[in-house]
Amino acid sequence: MSNKIKKILEKKNKTKIVSLTAYSKSIAKILDIYCDIILVGDSMANVLYGLKNTHSITIENIIQNTLSVKKGIKQSLLVVDMPKGSYSNLKKAENNAKLIIKKTGCDAIKLESNNKNFKIIEKLVKRKIPVMGHIGFTPQFKKNFKIEGNTKDKAEELLKEALKIEKAGAFSIVLECISPSASKLITSKLRIPTIGIGSSSYCDGQILVTDDMLGLSGFYPKFVKKYVNLNRIIEKAVKKYTRDVKNKKFPSTINFLNDRK
Ligand code: KIV
Repeated sequence: MSNKIKKILEKKNKTKIVSLTAYSKSIAKILDIYCDIILVGDSMANVLYGLKNTHSITIENIIQNTLSVKKGIKQSLLVVDMPKGSYSNLKKAENNAKLIIKKTGCDAIKLESNNKNFKIIEKLVKRKIPVMGHIGFTPQFKKNFKIEGNTKDKAEELLKEALKIEKAGAFSIVLECISPSASKLITSKLRIPTIGIGSSSYCDGQILVTDDMLGLSGFYPKFVKKYVNLNRIIEKAVKKYTRDVKNKKFPSTINFLNDRK
């Protein structure tokens, strides 16, 4: 196990794990100062490529954007999402996970659970590929968004799934849109850290899609806290630039000529 992953495991029950998504070097460089984990999420499908869902993002898209992110990272753990269909059987999962790691130099991969693919996690871990699991609302497998684990029985089902993922060897697990009581139960029963998104503060850490919390994506589910409205700030800057170009205030010919001397 790498030192970076050991450090993440050691945070359980001590200090909260901070995680965000990135798809480019410029954002990754800023996140790297603060984040324990940076995820190149398949959410890039919606956020970056304007697609309806995450289903058609390709390994090539994931690799390309991870190469950019990697350039901005010095200390955070870099985790990369395996796209839908890229781990549908043991052979495919192994080949594609190895390809992503070889081409990008990332630290770990994440795959969504369909409550069946535990053997795939086990095989990847046996091959020394660190795996982060993902349960609850898993957009690669579920169409309709809903908060999961609202009843005692449903919470127990989610706990069983999480325990199987832990047993298969995953080093951590994302809990997406799971009720506070179920998140609390799962987090207390697992030895590995839980990283929540829309799943209450009981989780060992939190992750958000960076573009959502920066007010860039235009997609703000209830659980997202918008820390800034970058859309408005960028629009103001572009408006000012447009005015300057039209009024011939930019560029300043004198400055430009001086720079070239
Ligand atoms: O793709 C993604 O950004 C994710 C996070 C929402 C956990 O899987």
